[in-house]
Amino acid sequence: MSSKQPSQKKLLRVLSSQSEPIPPIWLMRQAGRYLPEYRATREQAGGFLDLCYNPTQAEEVTLQPIRRYAFDASILFADILLIPQALGQKLWFETGEGPRLTPIENADTLSRDNALTHLAPIFDTVARLSKSLPAETTLIGFAGAPWTVASYMVAGRGTPDQAPALDLAARDAAAFQSIIDMLVAASIDYLAAQADAGAEVLQLFESWAASLEGDDFERWCVAPVAAIIKGLRARGVNVPIIAFPRAAKTHMGDYCAAVQCDALGLDTSANIDAVRAQVGDDMVLQGNLDPQVLVAGGARLDVAVREILAKTKNTPHIFNLGHGIVPQTPPENVTRLIELIRGAPA
Ligand code: CP3
Repeated sequence: MSSKQPSQKKLLRVLSSQSEPIPPIWLMRQAGRYLPEYRATREQAGGFLDLCYNPTQAEEVTLQPIRRYAFDASILFADILLIPQALGQKLWFETGEGPRLTPIENADTLSRDNALTHLAPIFDTVARLSKSLPAETTLIGFAGAPWTVASYMVAGRGTPDQAPALDLAARDAAAFQSIIDMLVAASIDYLAAQADAGAEVLQLFESWAASLEGDDFERWCVAPVAAIIKGLRARGVNVPIIAFPRAAKTHMGDYCAAVQCDALGLDTSANIDAVRAQVGDDMVLQGNLDPQVLVAGGARLDVAVREILAKTKNTPHIFNLGHGIVPQTPPENVTRLIELIRGAPA
């Protein structure tokens, strides 16, 4: 018998490539506006960024969905755009619209000198959570993948097609590379510090993978994520890493081999059987219920959940959405989702 005890945390067992009869479940953006208790704490904090940088309030909103639903994992409450801010770029959120940054075209005005000091409250939140979470709940830290983060830094906001970043990369690849390199280095520091503070899993969000193909996808999506994971391993960070290249137009087996992730997040459009055939039996897959089906609820939800459970039976799978939960989601539909996965409470 192995002396190594199996983890009491279901998510960590699955991340070591075991299958579980009842899969672990968490939801991307599980702390957020669909919960009245989140809206109340955000109101108290004053604004979204104030909430991110207040460790007791960030801890509170991270715990809210765990109290309500007992998810198997908890994701640190923060944002992928805190890194550009820590590097010196101006960041604010326009109410009802989303993030705004002063646009940049190269890394000249950015510096890593104060980044970890700026981000210290985030590590404090992680440390608090690793003490306050229930023993069976896994704590996930995260960062945005460099291409996705850079697309906001160059445009100064979210864009439907990432045109400003695509244009800069085509016009002045060296300048764009300087931004990507800065993000790779800063993300390694940031994620290593989260792991030191108690994060047990790390996820990289590549929300805008779909805008790149071929050599551009290799250069701006694959290479930077591979460099971050390699850099973390070189620093002795051994926690499992989930890569989420949303709607990437690539062979997922090649992607996983290139970036060396431990699990792959699937977006709503992914065909689970086809991806499984590409990545092999041992790769852990996460996803991919359509967030709009969770809004709809009812019979559509039941059917969609049972279909995913049937397809992923006896495979290492983490139940999740294919993208973040949306503010219109009725909280009781999440209760129903948990019931469909775990069975009705006794
Ligand atoms: O619960 C969690 O998942 C943890 C916290 C988390 C947030 N953002 C909180 C948040 C995480 C993991 C993110 C990731 C993130 N942030 C991504 C990648 C995932 C994705 O959705 O594609 C991106 C692209 C961002 C950047 C960002 N942050 C945008 C574009 C917006 C505005 C859109 C929106 O949903 O309001 C945000 C704001 C944001 N980040 C909110 C939350 C809870 C809403 C802020 C509020 O009004 O309270």
